[in-house]
Amino acid sequence: MLILSLPGAQALAAALADQLVADQGEVAVRHFPDGESLVRLQADVKDRKVVLAAHMDHPDGKTLALLFAADAARELGAASVGLAVPYLPYMRQDHRFHPGEAISSRSYARLLSASLDWLVTVDPHLHRWHSLDQIYAIPTRVVQAAPAIAAWLRREVPRPLLVGPDSESAQWVGALAGLLGAPWTTLAKTRRGDRDVSVAPTGAVQWEGRTPVLVDDIISTGETIAVAAQALRALGCGAPLCIGVHALFDQAAHQRLLDAGIERVVTCDSVPHATNAIALAPLLAAGVRELA
Ligand code: R5P
Repeated sequence: MLILSLPGAQALAAALADQLVADQGEVAVRHFPDGESLVRLQADVKDRKVVLAAHMDHPDGKTLALLFAADAARELGAASVGLAVPYLPYMRQDHRFHPGEAISSRSYARLLSASLDWLVTVDPHLHRWHSLDQIYAIPTRVVQAAPAIAAWLRREVPRPLLVGPDSESAQWVGALAGLLGAPWTTLAKTRRGDRDVSVAPTGAVQWEGRTPVLVDDIISTGETIAVAAQALRALGCGAPLCIGVHALFDQAAHQRLLDAGIERVVTCDSVPHATNAIALAPLLAAGVRELA
């Protein structure tokens, strides 16, 4: 097995190579003056099981290089070409919300499926799609971050109350609560725009003697978590912690979360970020081992 990192994913590739006792190399990408990408595999891939390791946040600037690398590996004789992608982008556009909109999750899946043999990811945003098989034509494995988050919570938070900010977060929060034997609840979210979100409790929240921990798969503008924290504070809860799997947020959004009364923001390392505290490579490696 040969793990090849796309730009910015060297640490991910090294962690996977370590877990899988595999060789490691890099995909070099440089841009021509007109912005086109030149992609070069810096390892001999002939007859190797190639695993491309990539952080795919902000995907529009990264996807072509990924596809070019996958095609090059196939053309140069790789035995197989898979993708270890801890954050799978474009999953939230899973419906034509307004006339004429693209269902980008399906289009993106078609694109990747054409150049790859398999794909492993962590907690993709499965909401209206119930399985990646509905849109991906290649074998896929979904790894849950819950065991890694549970291990962190066991060490850091003695009596958590897990709170999901919306109905679809029940899948992640429920799995985590099951591992910890902790109580959990979800709030009800209404989204009117990218930064126009409100949440409300769905019932009584039994927070006495417990530290509220907001858990979501993606933190992007931070609006969802910020208004959820404010709703918890309005109920009289103590300052919540917040755990996100995929950290898409910038520094301003991080400050917005702290200003909303969140004591600490912690994320998994699917997207490199200052708040990363929970390593996903061991879980991801287990998924890769099944498919490569
Ligand atoms: C969508 O439902 C996701 O699970 C997250 O709740 C959402 O992407 C968070 O986005 P933002 O941080 O921009 O509110």
